[in-house]
Amino acid sequence: MGPKEAAAVEAVKYVEDGMVVGLGSGSTASIAIKLMGEKVKEEGIEVTGIPTSAASDLLGRAVGIKIGDLDDHRHVDMTIDGADEVDADLNLVKGLGGALVREKMVAAATRLEMIVVDESKLVVYLGQKAPVPVEVVGFSHVSTMRRLAALGCDPVVRLADGKPYVTDNGNMIIDCKFERIEDPASLESILNVVPGVVDNGLFIGLADKVIVGSEEGVHIIERPEQPL
Ligand code: 5RP
Repeated sequence: MGPKEAAAVEAVKYVEDGMVVGLGSGSTASIAIKLMGEKVKEEGIEVTGIPTSAASDLLGRAVGIKIGDLDDHRHVDMTIDGADEVDADLNLVKGLGGALVREKMVAAATRLEMIVVDESKLVVYLGQKAPVPVEVVGFSHVSTMRRLAALGCDPVVRLADGKPYVTDNGNMIIDCKFERIEDPASLESILNVVPGVVDNGLFIGLADKVIVGSEEGVHIIERPEQPL
């Protein structure tokens, strides 16, 4: 079993009958969705999945998970999602798969946000390896990019097959590589007040548990207690 699968197997152990479960996006979360489908069939339990992307919606249905949405479910019991970077405070960069807006909406409604990664995603500081994906509306996106560049990053339009990548929400992604992100919470807010920005891939204070898979097995990192 590979590191991603090991993490997904551990996460799916937390899924119980009757739960509303957020279905993450990306390769690691997809393994978890498939395992959840097997669990639903084998154990005869019922789970309502809240997809974080069109792809996880399709996959969830294909493996026999009942699909719901946040309008009908104010709270999500747990979500299993991947990440692109995880720091020691369990702050994340997400969205290299392009699903950051829905992922953040589902995470914000989730009681237990569980992140499944392999060891390559653990970083000393956010921005160490990955750019911060920023979802922007297509209208005058070059002007939005100028404003993003003024914040100290190198903004690049994400492409797919040579054309601008289009998110599930019909928007574009600008990948913003910062040298080193000293204060990710402030940067998350600053990015989101740039006109034209829908949301960004900094997930601050949302992850509760990170399950790290490796060739040796898994280890679990819990979010440190927050001062009152
Ligand atoms: C998608 C995401 C993914 O969770 C992230 O890119 C990790 O994907 P993978 O498990 O394939 O490495 O944020 O928007």
